[in-house]
Amino acid sequence: MTTPPEFHDRLLSLGLARVTEAAAIASARLVGRGDEKAADQAAVDAMRNQLNMLDIRGVVVIGEGERDEAPMLFIGEEVGSGEGPEVDIALDPLEGTTLTAKDFPNALTVIAMAPRGTMLHAPDVYMDKLAIGPGYAPGTVTLEMSPGERVRALAEAKGCYPEDITVCVLERPRHESMIADIRATGAAIRLIMDGDVAGVMHCAEPQVTGIDMYMGSGGAPEGVLAAAALKCMGGQISGRLLFRNDAERGRAERAGITDPDRVYSRDDMITGDVIFAATGVTDGSIVRGLRAEPGWVTTDTLLMRSKTGSVRRMSYRTPV
Ligand code: FBP
Repeated sequence: MTTPPEFHDRLLSLGLARVTEAAAIASARLVGRGDEKAADQAAVDAMRNQLNMLDIRGVVVIGEGERDEAPMLFIGEEVGSGEGPEVDIALDPLEGTTLTAKDFPNALTVIAMAPRGTMLHAPDVYMDKLAIGPGYAPGTVTLEMSPGERVRALAEAKGCYPEDITVCVLERPRHESMIADIRATGAAIRLIMDGDVAGVMHCAEPQVTGIDMYMGSGGAPEGVLAAAALKCMGGQISGRLLFRNDAERGRAERAGITDPDRVYSRDDMITGDVIFAATGVTDGSIVRGLRAEPGWVTTDTLLMRSKTGSVRRMSYRTPV
């Protein structure tokens, strides 16, 4: 019997950065052009090409959608050279398609990779999310608490007033009562138009971003990517799947979800080591967006490994 190749996260991480860099370079020429689909397609094509150069036996567990709705990088698609370790891949070739089309901040290309069988196969439904940064006891804030209770609990744990807390929330009509409840505590809210992977990641560096907590519903796939990021950067996230109809419940069943009401912690979503890369498409508070000058482009990438807790910020300049 042969031993399966190890998950060489150290060696694979640079390859992962190349994947998000290529996706950012491909989609950046569509920044501000008002065409979400074209920007996403460019990122998908570039990401897939780069992924297939890596020596992995990869399966996309979080991808562009189910096989019948996504021609490429669909859930279950095998990627990589077919040599090397068996890995699960979660990706969002362009997190913030509308942000890109409108040239708004915080559009990213994102990928996470982990040994086979260690990532939650989240269906494409909504997830109720709650995240805070590192340094707090488990259970400091919970999904069971009301939004106002979460603010007060976090303020107490931080040793400050609720007025000193800033919460990041996706600006959506469905979040109106949550926003009112947070505001009633005196806390500040940073509303974002899109991009809750970045929204959650902001909590990991409150001294840089000014954000203490993220809450609200967004895509479940983005929840798993955010969990991968926080596993590397530090911080907690809880998520519970939300279903609007039977079709969505069916999706969850097909993805192997047996308890639809389960609350997933960060480590339930990512049960082992993970590596994570994100490259900026438009400028953001986590990484800068792509810069173009005649004949050259420069990208900034965040590359992280949970095993070591290393967070690398890399600048890459290449002729175009
Ligand atoms: P896309 O990049 O796929 O457009 O997703 C952007 C996003 O804002 C995610 O970050 C978030 O999880 C989700 O959309 C929220 O969904 P909705 O726009 O339906 O509220």
